[in-house]
Amino acid sequence: MTGRSCLCVVLAAGEGTRMKSTLPKVLHKVAGLPMVAHVAAAVRGAGADIALVAGNGSDSVRDAVRAVAPSAETYVQTERLGTAHAVMAARDALRRGYDDLLVVFGDAPLIRSETLLAARERLAAGFDVVVFAFRTERPAGYGRVLTRDGRVTGIREDRDCSDEEKLITLCNGGLMAITGRHAIRLIESVGNDNAKGEYYLTDVVEVAAEAGLAVTAVTIDADDVLGVNNRAELAEAEALWQQRRRRQVMLSGVTMIDPGSVFFSWDTEVGAETVVEPNVWFGPGVKVGRDVAIHAYSHLEGATVGDHVSVGPFARLRPGTRLAEKSKVGNFCEVKQADVGPGAKINHLTYIGDAVIGAGSNIGAGTITCNYDGFSKHVTEIGANVFIGSNSSLVAPVRIGDGAYVASGSVVTESVPDDALALGRARQATKEGRARELRERLAAAKKRG
Ligand code: UD1
Ligand code: MG
Repeated sequence: MTGRSCLCVVLAAGEGTRMKSTLPKVLHKVAGLPMVAHVAAAVRGAGADIALVAGNGSDSVRDAVRAVAPSAETYVQTERLGTAHAVMAARDALRRGYDDLLVVFGDAPLIRSETLLAARERLAAGFDVVVFAFRTERPAGYGRVLTRDGRVTGIREDRDCSDEEKLITLCNGGLMAITGRHAIRLIESVGNDNAKGEYYLTDVVEVAAEAGLAVTAVTIDADDVLGVNNRAELAEAEALWQQRRRRQVMLSGVTMIDPGSVFFSWDTEVGAETVVEPNVWFGPGVKVGRDVAIHAYSHLEGATVGDHVSVGPFARLRPGTRLAEKSKVGNFCEVKQADVGPGAKINHLTYIGDAVIGAGSNIGAGTITCNYDGFSKHVTEIGANVFIGSNSSLVAPVRIGDGAYVASGSVVTESVPDDALALGRARQATKEGRARELRERLAAAKKRG
């Protein structure tokens, strides 16, 4: 959409009482990202500047938007007098004379850039007002799109509909596009003579149609404009978002055996040829390379996984984990803030935290990096081609040199030089024949009672 400037007003001043939450509604998350940030990201994708309209105490809402759209401006609607009134809170931005004005809702997180671009195309084609409409067999609660001879003449809010109008199944999706030239005049001419006594943005349609301006409706999928008012709808939005993303991920070359049991975050990246087994959770900040196996029941968050790596089953990768190519983290292992070198293996029942592990090293079953002394975290450095025997405790700060061996069951408190063998355990004592003697003595004692 080159050549035309566009302002998008994001309405987020609603109280959201039905969420029963101390958190502003638009900050509730879908796929780990506040709803209003999803909206802001879609708006950015459509090439528009953002004017956020938030309610009192809006700093956290502003910050959530700025995290994805740093140049967004914030305006405060102090009194909640309706959607048209809310748009005019951003009057100063509107006055800058944009070619296009978009209005979207901060609690409709599934809106897509493509949909907004389609609206902008209509404006570029000469329409003055573009409404987004969808068909539903259950229109109750939505504004109905009124038409005469195939032309849009207005939008009637549900509460204001006559019995006849209530039967209309073409509904208003909420968002709207208005040509910048007429926007302020149209919005300011809206009154509040309706059941709620609010200034409705939707009345712009009737005002425009009566003034002989060109109004059109584009038909969209109801899912795109799903609005979240309570936590049941939040879960619906989450489910729809996950469905969309799973499909995208599979079409990009990732195999999922049971896609419905895999959950992505808004920013998860997964390379082609990777296989994700059932019941896997991706928290925010995960990047997975190509040809990776993420086995069942793994939980990943803030982790970078290189190409040809194997993770799980039942692995937990926490923030700051970086697994280099061909490394392996097996069952019941937890890794946090650690660099794991190429080809290194951490296969069973292990905790690796605040560590660096060199290429080709093998970390035996039950190894624990003792990284925390109750006050501070300390680093464990393990060189290349190191062998850590099973059930070892590595008490940080400590360094195990390249090619070193740590005997099983060791508690390592001092650094180990390259190619050294460290034994940090009691020497074994073996007494020939003593087991038989002991058995006989115990048996005799039991017989005596
Ligand atoms: C709105 C539409 C309706 C449409 C429906 C789709 C209007 C008048 N009605 O109704 O035609 O079918 O969406 O979901 O637009 N807001 C403010 N300040 C206000 C009032 C609202 O910021 O003073 C914000 C809300 O936070 C919300 C959005 O505007 O994000 C929509 O308001 P809401 O009251 O939810 O409108 P609906 O009744 O859902
Ligand atoms: Mg609503």
